[in-house]
Amino acid sequence: MACRSAASPTEKSPIHGYIGQFKIWPLELIDSLEKLRFTNEIKKPIFLADFTHGIKAQAHMNLQGIDEITFGTTDLAACHRFFQDWGLSLVAESADQLVFESLNGCRVITARSDLPGLAPGIEPDPTLREVVWCVHSDAALAHFRQKLSDQPGFLDTGTHIGCTDPNGLALRVQVSRKRPVQLEAAKTNTWSERSRINQPSPAYDRATPIEVGHVVMFVHDLAATTAFYQDKLGFVLSDSYPGRGSFLRCAPEAGHHDLFLLQPPAPRRGLNHVAFTVRDLHEVIGGGLHMSRCGWDTELGPGRHPISSAMFWYFNSPAGALVEYYTDEDELTADWQPREFTPGPTVFAEWAVKGGIDGHTRRQVNAAPPSGAFMTDKPKT
Ligand SMILES: [Fe+2]
Repeated sequence: MACRSAASPTEKSPIHGYIGQFKIWPLELIDSLEKLRFTNEIKKPIFLADFTHGIKAQAHMNLQGIDEITFGTTDLAACHRFFQDWGLSLVAESADQLVFESLNGCRVITARSDLPGLAPGIEPDPTLREVVWCVHSDAALAHFRQKLSDQPGFLDTGTHIGCTDPNGLALRVQVSRKRPVQLEAAKTNTWSERSRINQPSPAYDRATPIEVGHVVMFVHDLAATTAFYQDKLGFVLSDSYPGRGSFLRCAPEAGHHDLFLLQPPAPRRGLNHVAFTVRDLHEVIGGGLHMSRCGWDTELGPGRHPISSAMFWYFNSPAGALVEYYTDEDELTADWQPREFTPGPTVFAEWAVKGGIDGHTRRQVNAAPPSGAFMTDKPKT
């Protein structure tokens, strides 16, 4: 059973109504994402965006992003609860695996470690076993078939191809199964631009991720693995920690990174985190508060990355390592000049909350809860 906490006043209401034109989604409806996906409520054209990345789609021979990921796990029941609380929709279930989808149909599979046919792990489970990247056409798939045909572990089923990357991770390429979705996202009033008029900003009771936006892997040979993704799969370097990390995007015109390769001082192979794209900062916060209420542990967040500019919130995942809600990453073009950074805490996070925010008190974890109707309802000291 996924978490159905009713901690906040808004969550106790079966229908939350609208703030401005933004629908505040009741948990009863979110229980079934199928009910939400294509309703008029989420199609109002306040801000329309093709979250399969319309810009990327112009680069016909480039990868378009992540279509599917598979985790190997030792605890399917925990993964069941976790990813439903995370906001994914369970679309198939068996004794051996669970198949979840995000809003645009990006798939997240959690499989028992001993499931026949599961790609080998690069570290003990739970961890990421396979990443499926997508293209938009059979012609693009044929392009990558030719590019990967000389690589270790090459396979070709006709509908998807694949190989093993230099770090040992199984990768596949297929024509995308993701659906274009049109979603509202928050507008922001700045000093120079007032884009939200007579309309309060949205609030979310929980997140419903749009897709898997990027994966971050520990690698034992950064140079070789970076070169592989650039030369064989067309990735472009966005920024780097020379000798320590490579931020890579699928195409010249794309979000800041679809893949980040990180080589620790003591090289190792493994998963660092999988990141899920959400609409706006408010959904990062609403999603994180909901996960907190459900009892899941924050690793770090909310916070903001100076590199990529994205807002984030990381949680420990029973499927391995961390998962992240993120939003508002930089959008780059071929004109972008890669930058070089020296690793350090101020480079990783402009600011961040260690341990998260309590979903009930809405304060830092372990901070005293608020009292009184107003913060000023307390004796004068
Ligand atoms: Fe990330």
